[in-house]
Amino acid sequence: MASNNTAVGSHKNYIPFNSIINKQPQNIEKRLYVETYGCQMNVADTEIVNGIMNKYGYHTTENISDSSVILLNTCSIREHAESKIYQRLTELKKYKQSNSGLVIGIIGCMAERVKQDLIDKTRLVDLIIGPDEYRKLPYLIENLVEKGEKGIAVRLSRVETYDDIVPLRKEGISAWLAVMRGCDKFCSFCVVPYTRGRERSRSLVGVVDEVKQLWIEGFREVTLLGQNVNSYRSGNNDFAGLLASCAKASPEMRIRFMTSHPQDLSDKLMETIAEYNNLCKYIHLPVQSGSNRILDLMKRSYTIGHYTGLVEKAKKIIPEVALSTDIITGFPTETEEDHRMTLDIMKEVKYDGAYMFKYSAREKTKAFQMKEDVDDETKTRRLMEIIEVQKQISFEINSSMVGKAYEVLIESVSKKSDEMLAGRTDGNKSVIIPKNGTSIGEKVIVNINRANSATLFGTLQKSSNVV
Ligand code: SAH
Ligand code: SF4
Ligand code: F3S
Repeated sequence: MASNNTAVGSHKNYIPFNSIINKQPQNIEKRLYVETYGCQMNVADTEIVNGIMNKYGYHTTENISDSSVILLNTCSIREHAESKIYQRLTELKKYKQSNSGLVIGIIGCMAERVKQDLIDKTRLVDLIIGPDEYRKLPYLIENLVEKGEKGIAVRLSRVETYDDIVPLRKEGISAWLAVMRGCDKFCSFCVVPYTRGRERSRSLVGVVDEVKQLWIEGFREVTLLGQNVNSYRSGNNDFAGLLASCAKASPEMRIRFMTSHPQDLSDKLMETIAEYNNLCKYIHLPVQSGSNRILDLMKRSYTIGHYTGLVEKAKKIIPEVALSTDIITGFPTETEEDHRMTLDIMKEVKYDGAYMFKYSAREKTKAFQMKEDVDDETKTRRLMEIIEVQKQISFEINSSMVGKAYEVLIESVSKKSDEMLAGRTDGNKSVIIPKNGTSIGEKVIVNINRANSATLFGTLQKSSNVV
């Protein structure tokens, strides 16, 4: 549970949460439906929004036609992410037509980026609320219902961390937990510093308490989230300190984190990962490009030499470490030679996984000023090539796991068959096993019998009696 005694969220622009609760009107229908787009940070934010709204008397519903408030928690990272939302809004028209009292709100990064224009352009939208203003949601809905005033709240905060808000999570095995918000890195392609504002961290005590509470609630894995967790600070504690505290406080909980910016991944952090059994031996370390010239233009503040040095060190300090990355193809001025260097770094590091994207120019960013000289056909071709190389590498790594045994945390029934269960290894590999009496939430040892580039298939060896 989030700490209740931490005085965060006291920014002068915030309406105190309690004063909102005290003046709840009784006549508002309170059924909330939220659709979440974008990254895990948004998933975690939706749970915060549900927590805020729940305290105010709202019940969450999975059934859109039954809702009185629809919120789209949006993403702006690439143009496509935003066009999906415009498309979705046209689909939502029919709900408004059949229920004129229905409230439709846009929250998240696109609310922060597009602001008032979303109301002007679509007419359908009643509320625009940026990522640091979620405490105002109940108040703005009330104002809308009572006075018919559309609401917009898009101030970014230097202090808001929602440390005192108890997120309303769905029951499950794996939980997301945002330990910091915002980003100060200003990579030249990226809109996040503009949509999420400045870096700020939650208190160490608040995070550790929440991890312990998650265990009590039945969660068996938690992923600590931040755009760059290496910037985490709470008093004298850095991220390595936070990880160690969480690992000690909840020794059976499987703990992951993302994302680490390669500029400041410290030896201490790697040593901490190696030291605690329950810290997953897995680092998401986005390289973005294999070319120093492009990395410089991207303002990533490291070179490939520095990056490969880090990878070597990680593999030495954490021998079984799994690594994944993000890659962008078609950044302005990217040549075939630069692209080849990206393929080279992928083959050299041999990532366990990669998220790969075509460059999308974003207003306000530095790179937006650059001429987009890589045509879409070339971007797509390069993307296909890196996807193909990654598939090959993943297949090789996964095939090398056949015949060996791994600890797997069982998370759910397999999507493809009720008779099978799905889980993940410490290194984040998806594993499918036959049900055979195994329960969701158990940690089991699995013999891997077969693999493709995305999934491992195995059979139970023995219960490791962890849960
Ligand atoms: N904070 C994380 C990244 C968050 S955004 C980090 O620095 O690693 C997730 C990924 O989206 C980025 O790593 C990048 O690969 C991709 N991305 C961000 N902006 C993009 C853009 N304008 N076009 C294409 N991909 C982009
Ligand atoms: Fe964007 Fe760079 Fe910040 Fe990641 S570190 S969120 S890519 S600006
Ligand atoms: Fe998208 Fe915002 Fe996340 S732009 S990737 S939802 S931080």
